[in-house]
Amino acid sequence: MKIFLDTADVAEIREYAATGLVDGVTTNPSLAAKTGRDYADVLKEICAVVPGSVSAEVLATDFDGMMKEGKAVSKIAKNITIKVPLTWDGLKACRALSNDGLMVNVTLCFSPVQAMLAAKAGATFISPFIGRVDDVGEDGMGLVRDIRAIYDNYGFKTEILAASIRSVSHVREAALAGADVGTMPTEIFKKLISHPLTDKGLAAFIADAKKANVTIKTS
Ligand code: E4P
Repeated sequence: MKIFLDTADVAEIREYAATGLVDGVTTNPSLAAKTGRDYADVLKEICAVVPGSVSAEVLATDFDGMMKEGKAVSKIAKNITIKVPLTWDGLKACRALSNDGLMVNVTLCFSPVQAMLAAKAGATFISPFIGRVDDVGEDGMGLVRDIRAIYDNYGFKTEILAASIRSVSHVREAALAGADVGTMPTEIFKKLISHPLTDKGLAAFIADAKKANVTIKTS
């Protein structure tokens, strides 16, 4: 599964991109607002740090506005993916932008049939919001599984980008459900590596080596 960071914080992205494990970034208007900076400037910096897909969400809600904003943000860098909402105008814009050869992420997906429409509109990515579905007492991961089944039934190439991830379990379950991408806050990304037995095992190896004076010659 590809790993995307769900943040507009350039310093954080720079720090974690250095691991070589970050395949892309997703932003949205709420994350952009948190930075207090110009959205285009932030996107430009992120695109220079991460070579993979960087989602930039349009603010317009009508077709013409989305087309204008989508084309404008696509000029920021080659790896910009235009993010549009799952509305009729959003899907029309998705079809037109993808016909122009641009990458499109259809966001705010809460049902399998919405995801089917996005795939038919030529979306590069569909973003089911797992955490927000769970928040209203429904099954966020079930949504990912249903979308996987529908896309596989019909050979849709749209990538499932599991979004609104709130826990390490969400990452594990999304990977098991066949999501192509998981986008997560950096706090979750950091936790992916943690296991107490790894720490305990490493401490024991180092202690045993020290006791017996085991060394590795490097020159
Ligand atoms: C990413 O593309 C989404 O905008 C994001 O994952 C939403 O996450 P939230 O539900 O935690 O705001």
